Amino acid sequence: MRIHYDNRALRTQYNVHKNMQVVEEIISKSPEETFAIGKALGLKAKRGDVFALVGDLGTGKTIFAKGIACGLGIDDEITSPTFTLLEVYDGNIPLFHFDLYRINDPRELDNLYFEEFWEGDGISIIEWAERAKARLPQHTVYIYFEHLHDTTRRIRIEYPSD
Ligand SMILES: Nc1ncnc2c1ncn2[C@@H]1O[C@H](COP(=O)(O)OP(=O)(O)O)[C@@H](O)[C@H]1O
Ligand SMILES: [Mg+2]
Repeated sequence: MRIHYDNRALRTQYNVHKNMQVVEEIISKSPEETFAIGKALGLKAKRGDVFALVGDLGTGKTIFAKGIACGLGIDDEITSPTFTLLEVYDGNIPLFHFDLYRINDPRELDNLYFEEFWEGDGISIIEWAERAKARLPQHTVYIYFEHLHDTTRRIRIEYPSD
């Protein structure tokens, strides 16, 4: 599937530096814009990067994950791993796509050798990342999704301070 998008999606509505931390806030007006914002991030991604996606059901986390995968050059169809916890995709850089929706107790993550994924050479995307917050590395990029109206979403990207 080929998605056309409008470059204005990449316009940053606000960009602040708080204690050297860069925060970007963008209003997406369509699923295609959300995909494009993810894609832009995927194009810049490097091995070991961790993207934590936080937001309610239907706010665009999976569409954004698909955008990141597209930016990484992965052309497999990305599905929501809701029932599997983790899907692995092969690309130039491997992609680990987690969905922690079904995790109710952080101890359930103990069997998942979480840390090995970001100590390796792939890129991790974690939906419902707040369910694993204590386990996420310092260099995690947090992306918050908020439902504003039918087709508008607020996307806030918080890059780690270095
Ligand atoms: N601006 C937007 N960005 C992302 N999704 C949107 C937007 N407007 C409407 N939608 C719809 O919201 C839903 C988001 O689905 P999905 O990405 O699976 O969400 P999540 O993974 O957060 O549960 C899709 O049905 C999509 O078409
Ligand atoms: Mg999802």
